[in-house]
Amino acid sequence: MAKLIVSDVDVKDKKVLIRVDFNVPIKNGVIGNDNRIVAALPTIKYVIENGGKAILLSHLGRIKSDEDKKELSLRPVAERLSELLGKDVKFVPSNEGAELETAINDMKDGDVILMENTRFQDIDNDFGKRESKNDPKLGEYWASLGDVYINDAFGTAHRAHASNVGIATAMKAAGKPAAAGYLMEKEIKFLGDAVDNPVHPFVTILGGAKVSDKIGVIENLIPKSDHILIGGGMAYTFLAAQGHKIGKSLFEADKVELAKELLEKAGDKIVLPVDNIAAAEFSNDAKHEVVGQDIPDGEMGLDIGPKTISLFKDILKDAKTVVWNGPMGAFEMSNYAEGTLEVGRALGELKDASTIIGGGDSAAAAIQLGIADQITHISTGGGASLEYLEGKELPGIAAISDK
Ligand code: 3PG
Repeated sequence: MAKLIVSDVDVKDKKVLIRVDFNVPIKNGVIGNDNRIVAALPTIKYVIENGGKAILLSHLGRIKSDEDKKELSLRPVAERLSELLGKDVKFVPSNEGAELETAINDMKDGDVILMENTRFQDIDNDFGKRESKNDPKLGEYWASLGDVYINDAFGTAHRAHASNVGIATAMKAAGKPAAAGYLMEKEIKFLGDAVDNPVHPFVTILGGAKVSDKIGVIENLIPKSDHILIGGGMAYTFLAAQGHKIGKSLFEADKVELAKELLEKAGDKIVLPVDNIAAAEFSNDAKHEVVGQDIPDGEMGLDIGPKTISLFKDILKDAKTVVWNGPMGAFEMSNYAEGTLEVGRALGELKDASTIIGGGDSAAAAIQLGIADQITHISTGGGASLEYLEGKELPGIAAISDK
């Protein structure tokens, strides 16, 4: 069922609560990567340019103590958002009570406020984790502050928290709209089309450290994909399942049987590295060499090798839909970045293909390697995009009103 979208809703003169995912890396008050803030701009701009009052809610990190609160205030995000919007963004250092309510009542059309980290509600109260355990009273309270609710926090959609599910539920119960923002709409469109309606050939590329993180994705995408290319640390558990020597490469002993089953189920759809870059130490300074499918004793595989790059590129050249999740090697070290870089380049060179990167490390890799602008869609969700690719219903999306 299609979801209600921000553009379906009248925002003029309305108090519009917008749940964004501003869970961005911040160290000593400095934001390391503002992609998620930039990605939320279209929805915020739409609301304020159409005469609404934008009241923003987000979590940041995980709050277990008062000490965490010092590190995890959203104040630096309000400052960055203000620079990006080119207008004042009022930061309210609370998310409940008189200070917040007065700030909202004083808003004029086109104003923007960002309230303090919603997870500050996870401590210092009788309920316990009010935000993360979805205290219905908290959702009702936040819903009472606005006329319209927009959920643009795709990165949080796999959580059922008060600021996404509780608030949407309370809005709908009060007869008020709970719509998706433009970022949420875009994420659902690209990931949804790839998973539910891919144009073939459909190639899935999986990497990263662990098989255990990707089991659900592999199982869901085996029947839908034409090829599943596997690299990164997780490849070594599959190579071990085929009887190869893997030296001291990353390995999940308890997943070998499962890897065998997946290989059997997938037939020749799963393509594993035919060569690797191996070194004795997990270090960019270590002497490294190209080896075949067997990794010598005392060495570990740290990247896919040149023949594997050619093989993957050859398969990718005809692809019409590509979903990529997880780097092909230890790309943060330049000597082991080639596989990830070349796969990213191959995606960038595809014509008439939809190329999608599921968030997390592969999104970071694409940005670090300077290929982000050649990709059709880079998801802002790490865990959320993985669960979407697993075919799960995400509670944050389910709670949005249907059209
Ligand atoms: C994320 O970064 O994946 C989302 O913001 C969700 O954060 P969480 O894993 O702390 O719930």
